Amino acid sequence: MTFCVYPVTPEFAAEIGDLDLSKPIADDDFQRLSDLFDRYSVLVFPDQRLDQDQHLDFARRFGPLETTIGKLRKDAPIRLHEQIADVSNLSHNGGIWGETSRLRLYQLGNRLWHTDSSFKRVPARASLLYAHSIAPVGGHTEFADMRAAWDALPEEMKRRLDGRVAEHAIMYSRAKLGFSNFSKEEIENLPPVPQAMVRTHAGSKRRSLYIASHVGKVYGMPDDEATALLEELTAHATQRQFVYTHRWRVNDLVLWDNRCTMHRGTEFDDLRWKRDVRRATVSDEIPSCEREGIAVPASIAAE
Ligand code: OGA
Ligand code: MN
Repeated sequence: MTFCVYPVTPEFAAEIGDLDLSKPIADDDFQRLSDLFDRYSVLVFPDQRLDQDQHLDFARRFGPLETTIGKLRKDAPIRLHEQIADVSNLSHNGGIWGETSRLRLYQLGNRLWHTDSSFKRVPARASLLYAHSIAPVGGHTEFADMRAAWDALPEEMKRRLDGRVAEHAIMYSRAKLGFSNFSKEEIENLPPVPQAMVRTHAGSKRRSLYIASHVGKVYGMPDDEATALLEELTAHATQRQFVYTHRWRVNDLVLWDNRCTMHRGTEFDDLRWKRDVRRATVSDEIPSCEREGIAVPASIAAE
């Protein structure tokens, strides 16, 4: 075994040393990484030198990759490979985005707690974010442990959530920021989707809360009650004891498990510093309700 593991927390985040991701990973090493990824939701690989293809090749070991929804935005061409989500503050020509640019208003949604692609019918399993350049101050990424958050919920709340379904849409999270300027392609391709609110994590069999700022409704619940519930759960799950804050160094690659975490980017002076971070995203296999064996009610009002 060639690499070493430095836990940052006992159950949530760890750093991996002496592993060069630009080279093919031997099967036994990859198996060891997968086992670690069942236990730790966030794995940090410092000091990597990856071109786009090497980044994608490593990501592909975890499963099929998503195509970025950036392709649906018709205001500007995409800057990177279509399987890389451009999470930077740069416009397509590589300069810092404009204060009122659509791209900026859209991307500021990443500062809300979320899990990637929960607005897709089959959501993301894992994300691999790689830092080409970072801001000297701010611009961290915070991760919340949704398995630990679930474990810590009162039994009564667990009963209330068990088997429940929430409706996620990118339009819901963007609406929270006052953004509604979606293209026809986005509206047609990103309709609201149902997701289980509680999931069983395949690798650990631990249960996990599954929510995000993308949630707009909860099946069988009036909107004001659903909004209050989501606020309460988000506040619970993002308490300090459940959160690891990643302070980036250039060339860090961070792998996280979207099935059992939420994350958000923290503030930085995005009109001053270039922060070029790029994400490969691994798709899950089936919708979360199907995995949980929950029959999705035909409509929000039903149940
Ligand atoms: C992401 C994301 C936050 C950040 O890459 O999915 O939400 O800190 N990033 O850039
Ligand atoms: Mn994200």
